[in-house]
Amino acid sequence: MPVPIIIDCDPGHDDALAIMLAAGDPAVELLGITTVAGNQTLAKTTLNARRVCTVAGITGVPIAAGCAKPLVQALDVADDVHGASGLDGPRFPEPTVDAVPGHAVDLMYRILTGHPEPVTLVPTAPLTNIALLLTRHPDAATCIREIVLMGGSSERGNRTPAAEFNVRTDPEAADIVFRSGVPVTMCGLNVTHQALATPEVVARFERLGTDLGRICAELLTFFASTYRTLWGFPSPPLHDPVAVARVIDPDIVHCVEGNVVVELNGRYTRGATVVDLHRYTGRPVNAQVAVRLEADLFWDRMVAAVTVLGDRPSR
Ligand code: RIB
Ligand code: CA
Repeated sequence: MPVPIIIDCDPGHDDALAIMLAAGDPAVELLGITTVAGNQTLAKTTLNARRVCTVAGITGVPIAAGCAKPLVQALDVADDVHGASGLDGPRFPEPTVDAVPGHAVDLMYRILTGHPEPVTLVPTAPLTNIALLLTRHPDAATCIREIVLMGGSSERGNRTPAAEFNVRTDPEAADIVFRSGVPVTMCGLNVTHQALATPEVVARFERLGTDLGRICAELLTFFASTYRTLWGFPSPPLHDPVAVARVIDPDIVHCVEGNVVVELNGRYTRGATVVDLHRYTGRPVNAQVAVRLEADLFWDRMVAAVTVLGDRPSR
């Protein structure tokens, strides 16, 4: 039986492919897409989610917009990474998929309480919506199977030397999630940097010969340009689909138990995830921490999902 999931995202190039993986792989059932401010403003991330669903032919999956800013600090978008639109590179047609009215937290709560079995939340963005859900609806925790998130790092950061973008954008929200008691799996930079979209990977999407395959290749090509400029990466790490892949097949993303806390006060380290994999601190296990990716299996599932979506007759 497919695992029911909700993706909470800030498209974002890698979020876009995470949505496609979730919609195109039979091991998961995408029940909803919620958006949050992060890579770009809420208006832009929501428009981009609509664009992705339009070009991928994803219909019947409700999209709802959530929080327009982090819980405490100001929003600081990543236009240097994802461009002014948040999804620079391809030219997108006018979206034909609309967002539903109401707040993302209300959509998540409706889905969680209305679904016959617990639902997995897959946040691939700052955790503002998730923290608000857990705070406004504490009872929702019993309807959540687990939270499998892209964020944090057991090593260095990418927004600051110490902090990864999703956690650094809203540290208070991340702190709420890691302290919530809900089962959490953290897919941090230490594992997502193993998901490199090499030229060979880009060529696989181009060879599909579909509009969607071309759009994915163009997204990855733009993403590669900013990662090369900003960090000198020869190929960009496709962060967000790794969290979806963990739900699809846990054998693709290997995890170990650990304790994760979020630094809120460090002058130089605010937003860092302090990951204890060796019981140094005596703090209890509160997360599964992803440490190794089966990259070939990952890309096979990613390309297969885009193949399925791209081969469907256009609506
Ligand atoms: O640090 C990588 C994360 O930040 C990804 O989710 C990317 O989309 C950005 O949101
Ligand atoms: Ca993201």
